[in-house]
Amino acid sequence: MKPLSNKTVVITGSGGGLGAAYARHVASLGAAVVVNDINPLAAERTAAEIRSAGGRAISLVGDVSDWHFAATLVRSCVEAFGSITGFVNNAGVLRHGRIEDLKADDLRRMVEINILGTAAGTQAAVKEMLSAGVAGTVINVASGSQAGDIALGGYGGTKAAIASMTFSWAMELKDTPIRINAISPLAETAMAAQNAGFMAVQAANREVHYSSLPSAENNAPLVAYLLSDDSRSVHGQVIRIAGQQLSFVTHPLIAAPVLSGDWDFGSIRDAFATTLNHCQQPLGLGFAAAAPTTDA
Ligand SMILES: NC(=O)c1ccc[n+]([C@@H]2O[C@H](COP(=O)([O-])OP(=O)(O)OC[C@H]3O[C@@H](n4cnc5c(N)ncnc54)[C@H](O)[C@@H]3O)[C@@H](O)[C@H]2O)c1
Repeated sequence: MKPLSNKTVVITGSGGGLGAAYARHVASLGAAVVVNDINPLAAERTAAEIRSAGGRAISLVGDVSDWHFAATLVRSCVEAFGSITGFVNNAGVLRHGRIEDLKADDLRRMVEINILGTAAGTQAAVKEMLSAGVAGTVINVASGSQAGDIALGGYGGTKAAIASMTFSWAMELKDTPIRINAISPLAETAMAAQNAGFMAVQAANREVHYSSLPSAENNAPLVAYLLSDDSRSVHGQVIRIAGQQLSFVTHPLIAAPVLSGDWDFGSIRDAFATTLNHCQQPLGLGFAAAAPTTDA
């Protein structure tokens, strides 16, 4: 029996890029997939590829930024395949803009698709899973840019919001059969091509550099694992996959040292002068501890 044979999954934005790779891979491992995309031709192409390879898939065209559409996605999965056990909030958009030239319409669209779309999808999936008593899984999609990136303040901000929402929802759902995690993927896709002109300046401003980007397919086994029963103990995490590197991403935590005192202007000024100024946190994506050395 294939590891995902008992899984029924919605993957948003799976007409192309990473989402299409996730859909093809999880279908090859036995999952039935609702392929969603805003692009009708792309959605049907991925679903047709899965069916012609012997898998189970339907396509459903729609915009995840429409709050009510998420319920349609969930209902379609239940009607077509009898249940919903997984929801992957993959659809996302990226618009560039340094703070001096960020456009309100660009930021609004990222908020609508990346944040509202993720919240709507998670809400619809969680409601159905809870009422059906299903041990389901939600996977959200963050990004290394949540740590800060040149010209990606708006985009990274929406991804930081997705990570933060994932932490809160994981706390709310911890006594239910539902698990929720986020992934931080990396791949050569249309979105990555859109960012290509900014890569040099971005790389120069953070610890983590990429000389080339992995394929979308490289990321798909992590999604399959998180949708499977084998990951039943993984909850409330952001998991980074970047080519050959696999790791957790730290939650925002209180950094040591934590100084104690009755704080007034003078004592705060002295605390920074003597201690805290040396402990400022690095900007951009880096490693929290020593770089990982464990090979797969
Ligand atoms: N490519 C990377 O290296 C990378 C890194 C970090 C995070 N991500 C995230 O991974 C996800 C997929 O990225 P990608 O690189 O495959 O992007 P992509 O642009 O190549 O593909 C995105 C897909 O989503 C669809 N889509 C866009 N808006 C939609 C909407 N409103 N409703 C439904 N579908 C919609 C597009 O038509 C497209 O098929 C995104 O959330 C992105 O932010 C990507």
